[in-house]
Amino acid sequence: MPGIVVIGTQWGDEGKGRIIDLLSDKVDAVGRYAGGNNAGHTIIVNGQKIVLHHIPSGILRANKLSVIGNGVVIDPKILIEEMEGLKNLGFNVSPENLKISDRAHLIMPYHKLLDKRSEARMGDGKIGTTGRGIGPVYEDKAARRGIKLSDLLFEDFFSRRLKLIFDEKKLFMSEMFVDENLTHKSMLNEYLEYGSILSPYIADTSLIFHELLNKGKNILFEGAQGALLDVDFGTYPYVTSSNAGSGGVCSGTGISPTYINKVIGICKAYTTRVGEGPFPTEVNGETAETLRANGKEYGATTGRPRRCGWFDAVAVAYAIRVNGISNLMLTKLDVLSAFETIKICTSYRFRNDKLVNFPSNYEVLNNCEPVYEEMEGWKCDLKPGNPESIPANLTRYLNRIEEIMGIPVTLLSVGPSRDEYIMLKDNLLN
Ligand code: IMP
Repeated sequence: MPGIVVIGTQWGDEGKGRIIDLLSDKVDAVGRYAGGNNAGHTIIVNGQKIVLHHIPSGILRANKLSVIGNGVVIDPKILIEEMEGLKNLGFNVSPENLKISDRAHLIMPYHKLLDKRSEARMGDGKIGTTGRGIGPVYEDKAARRGIKLSDLLFEDFFSRRLKLIFDEKKLFMSEMFVDENLTHKSMLNEYLEYGSILSPYIADTSLIFHELLNKGKNILFEGAQGALLDVDFGTYPYVTSSNAGSGGVCSGTGISPTYINKVIGICKAYTTRVGEGPFPTEVNGETAETLRANGKEYGATTGRPRRCGWFDAVAVAYAIRVNGISNLMLTKLDVLSAFETIKICTSYRFRNDKLVNFPSNYEVLNNCEPVYEEMEGWKCDLKPGNPESIPANLTRYLNRIEEIMGIPVTLLSVGPSRDEYIMLKDNLLN
């Protein structure tokens, strides 16, 4: 009964989409458990770039079930556009291969307004959110002021609930100087329409996951964002508002921890971050420009340039520990082919102390200096396919990463397309 979790080990954008796309071929179903359309999973299929925001990457494979779990927050307008976009590209999107949790919470227009207003108000102290309403919708979920997808199927109930919530929200919006002409009626009509479009897809997805696992089917649980953006274990307060790490799988899908057999970590061979917050190995100047240009490091959701830096082994080792990761898949190695020497941060210096464990406090992390080891680069194109063709300096680099992390690297991605990878282990799911 294997449940396999795949998560990013850094601040998101590790290239999870294309790896999950690869692995989804080997499982029966793919489920999302956290986040919303702040995520942007990019996959290149037959030269065509596809960016998925809510829908699991399994949708791109025939005969795989894709499931959006209860921990995901949904912007129904964007989700419907995403479904239509995929259909226009020739992909099958139907109630047979896509199920959406009845318990998933909805992003409402006021969530997006409040997200943007709060960021503007905080000025230099802003988080740098994607502006998709993610923080406010999870706040409302915890405050028991949320609206669930299945609420849209009961018009009278939805109308009453929206009125109750919106009356209070209006007071808060006026205090926050949010000037908008939202009305109960306009939202009611708009969202009832979304409900009727989505209704064939709405299901008790916890039951679906459970039945599949009991039949011995394989499910891949697709993480969004990254371990260091997790609301509990990330670089708080510069995090997203959900449990992006493996801990979020059970609460975000309704399956028991006993069904999870393996956690795979996806890790970029260097580091990037979008938005504000501490980033000890961040670099500027020519190195950052080369990483950004060669790695096309611009946000898939917002288009913002990503901050770039060297590989941070302290941070990744922490992500491995708190998420129980048993093997790593390294992405974007081709981007490092441009460098004469490559750096790995193996500890931090904080005042006069050497830190080997990732600090939990923002003020400490923000004042850490990275301590680097330097390795000779491989300076050549990396070819997909044959592990024998890996240059000696890359083998040394991989051996060093395995040695520091204490777990194997099982796959390398060396380009953005589906087939641009090198498998270092025969069965990637074992
Ligand atoms: P929010 O999730 O929109 O509230 O944004 C909170 C923080 O998480 C910001 O720094 C965002 O840039 C970051 N973030 C959210 N989603 C992603 C993602 O999918 N990739 C990378 N960063 C993300």
